[in-house]
Amino acid sequence: MDWKGCWEKGTMPWHMEDVHPKFLSHVDKITEKKNNAKIFFPLCGKAVEMFYLAKKGHTIVGVEYIEIAVKQFFDENKLSYKTKHVPEIDGDVYENEENRIKIYCGDYFKFGPTLETNFDGVWDRGGLEAVLIDEREKYTEIMKSVMKRGAPCVTEVPDRPVGEGPPFNLTVNEITHLYDLKAPPEKVDYDPASEILKSMNVDGMFYYYYKINS
Ligand SMILES: C[S@@+](CC[C@H](N)C(=O)[O-])C[C@H]1O[C@@H](n2cnc3c(N)ncnc32)[C@H](O)[C@@H]1O
Repeated sequence: MDWKGCWEKGTMPWHMEDVHPKFLSHVDKITEKKNNAKIFFPLCGKAVEMFYLAKKGHTIVGVEYIEIAVKQFFDENKLSYKTKHVPEIDGDVYENEENRIKIYCGDYFKFGPTLETNFDGVWDRGGLEAVLIDEREKYTEIMKSVMKRGAPCVTEVPDRPVGEGPPFNLTVNEITHLYDLKAPPEKVDYDPASEILKSMNVDGMFYYYYKINS
């Protein structure tokens, strides 16, 4: 997947200008209604949900390897930032201290607990479903290593009957295995007909949303 090309051409069908309705429906499951929870946005793009939660007093960490996306996030939300080189990810971290938002601009697969740990919650939309199938195990190993034990991760999971990904199909059994769960995760929602899905024009595709506590 040519993510850089998408950002350079401005073709990001996944990006939503407004806060994702399913995020709004399930945000309390992600923060568990804590004050100042530390929330992780893997493969974050310029997701507007990050600033939404920061404004509610939470601490936000994202990881995104395309610099255009990271800069657009700060610029479009009129947030200033400082950058610092982070050798572990061969990139920089962009930070707005006042609003407690950090985005690591580098490869997720180089991210880990030496940089950030103890996340209270995760919104994983366009992360696990976007990586290549043979990268899923590494993806979830990193996720488990940075989350607090038992912390919630609300994850979007596509069900597409036709076509190649991303997003790639994912079954509940795979999630159970990848996150070492004793029982299948709770299915909290589904979305058969969002604007995003219409724009992707994949017949019969829809999304499930699961809450994973690993
Ligand atoms: C489908 S988009 C989802 C963006 C965001 N989560 C949202 O809801 O709008 C996937 C994003 O992951 C980024 N990405 C893909 N592979 C990555 C990697 N290995 N490390 C960091 N970012 C990555 C892409 O540049 C793209 O912005």
